[in-house]
Amino acid sequence: MKQFRDRTAVITGAASGIGLELARRAAAEGMNLVLADIESAKLDAAAASLGIDAGRILARRTDVSREDEIAALADAAFTRFGGVHLLCNNAGVGLTRVSWELSTADWNWVLGVDLWSVIHGIQHFLPRMLEQGEGGHVVNTSSVAGLLSTPGMAAYNVAKHGVVTLSETLYGELLAAKARVGVSLLCPAWVPTAIHESGRNRQDRFGAAKPAEGLSASYEQRMASAVKSGRLTAADMASEVFAAVSEDRFYVIPHRKINNAIQLRMDDIMQLRNPTQLP
Ligand SMILES: NC(=O)c1ccc[n+]([C@@H]2O[C@H](COP(=O)([O-])OP(=O)(O)OC[C@H]3O[C@@H](n4cnc5c(N)ncnc54)[C@H](O)[C@@H]3O)[C@@H](O)[C@H]2O)c1
Repeated sequence: MKQFRDRTAVITGAASGIGLELARRAAAEGMNLVLADIESAKLDAAAASLGIDAGRILARRTDVSREDEIAALADAAFTRFGGVHLLCNNAGVGLTRVSWELSTADWNWVLGVDLWSVIHGIQHFLPRMLEQGEGGHVVNTSSVAGLLSTPGMAAYNVAKHGVVTLSETLYGELLAAKARVGVSLLCPAWVPTAIHESGRNRQDRFGAAKPAEGLSASYEQRMASAVKSGRLTAADMASEVFAAVSEDRFYVIPHRKINNAIQLRMDDIMQLRNPTQLP
């Protein structure tokens, strides 16, 4: 997708972090914006901060884990702007616990926001994007957690691996269908955003997570400090995404140093070696 001006972008998780920077970049490119997030007040503030004409922006509170809310978001986007050209399935949450301490509610929360949201995004937007016949692009935000299996992050790892294989599958299908809609997969490592405070958005229906103790607490602390110390910014992620979309490039892995860890994992598999543990 080469042309952005006057086309429409839908961005989930747009109130904060990477989603907000994707929105800034889309606004700077002259796109119409449909911004979705579960945090209503922050979403409205984010939308206002973009300083673009009210006619070019729709901000809608959406819980992306709920199919009916994604369906309603798609209806609202197509009704308001008559088409959608860039879909960024970006909203996500993280939870750090050892696998045996994750409750069913913990799994449902993380898989709902991180994986089902992308599934529902594809179900409810893609058929209409294909039908409109104007070309377009889908960007799914996974993580290097979709390419590696870091201890303490089982639910997140499973969800993000799901987003990787879903996106790779979709890539092949769109090619086979000779569709004018492309797909890219964003896999960041550590980016300083509010992801380590994801519990703020845990929906009431999942109850609260049990406080982390012992090994879970040390993984949780390590994750929070890794996020805070990330060198590449959310704005860097947005630049990488827009470059990939305009070049129709699938893999967007901005932290190139992670290649060593990905290679190690692949070598473990190829050589039937037990998974190498990094310090
Ligand atoms: N920050 C990192 O280090 C990092 C690394 C790899 C991948 N990611 C991924 O990047 C994406 C964006 O995260 P971020 O780092 O900008 O974090 P963030 O917490 O700053 O932003 C995430 C946004 O998602 C929203 N959200 C949470 N639950 C939601 C729900 N049910 N429905 C709708 N919106 C919801 C939050 O309100 C927030 O605005 C996520 O998918 C995350 O997994 C982040």
